[in-house]
Amino acid sequence: MGGSVREVAAGAGGGSYLFDNGSAHAGGQHRCLAAWLDPVSVGELLRAGVRPGMSCLEVGAGAGSIALWLADQVGPTGSVLATDLAPLPIAARPALTVRRHDVVREALPEDAFDLVHVRLLLSHLPEREAVLARLFAALRPGGVLHLLEFDAEYAPVLTAPDERSGELYERYRQAKLRAFGARGSDQGWGRKCAAAMVRAGFVGVEVSPHVDMLAPGTPQLEMQVHNTWHLRDALVREGLTDGELAELRAVFADPRFRACSNVVYAVHGRKP
Ligand SMILES: C[S@@+](CC[C@H](N)C(=O)[O-])C[C@H]1O[C@@H](n2cnc3c(N)ncnc32)[C@H](O)[C@@H]1O
Repeated sequence: MGGSVREVAAGAGGGSYLFDNGSAHAGGQHRCLAAWLDPVSVGELLRAGVRPGMSCLEVGAGAGSIALWLADQVGPTGSVLATDLAPLPIAARPALTVRRHDVVREALPEDAFDLVHVRLLLSHLPEREAVLARLFAALRPGGVLHLLEFDAEYAPVLTAPDERSGELYERYRQAKLRAFGARGSDQGWGRKCAAAMVRAGFVGVEVSPHVDMLAPGTPQLEMQVHNTWHLRDALVREGLTDGELAELRAVFADPRFRACSNVVYAVHGRKP
């Protein structure tokens, strides 16, 4: 496709993605993601020098907190195209265009963007390396890709009310890893994506890892509470019961619970 993004019917393509933006729990998931990760993403983008007049693309924009922030930075002389397989409502801005688009199956404009931002999407897509090549092609020479991805394989429990709750949390974590793995997700992708960017032709690739604490009341742990509802069917398929999920929610509310977050990798690189 040349300079535009074609629309596809809701739900078409991208069948690998396990979450569902149509779920009653998607709003909570996206609020927690924004509260947790926007400070990291915004810090990275500010250091990269986002300027008025830039042409930006955000793929898998979700509820659009970063697309909105970018639109405010680039101003009316710039542009932000926010795409998603299942876009959620995003406030209007003169610079912002929101489109339904499947980045696996549909082309993007080529040599078109100064900056591309993609957060927590590629790990879910079995075709992640082909999508990376598509993102490379979408950038103008000198343009920068920013990825933020999880390594969910390292996220141990640190303290729990008792041994059983610690073990239950670990079973939940393993069930989630299996459920995502069954969809072709690579839950260790965060630690691998910088090398994949180098293979795709990016230069000046830089990585910063971040780890946070999951404690009651934090967005990091609230997101896990949402996951127990949002991913309930998949978790039950992987061997947890509704009773255990209820027990886990009580553990998440216990002030003695602490766990390490997924490792968050913020990676950027330039198209030469
Ligand atoms: C985990 S959410 C992250 C949302 C947002 N980037 C953030 O970090 O807050 C992943 C998003 O990617 C979207 N998505 C999944 N598969 C996609 C595809 N094939 N093409 C475009 N977007 C996709 C989902 O609908 C969802 O909104």
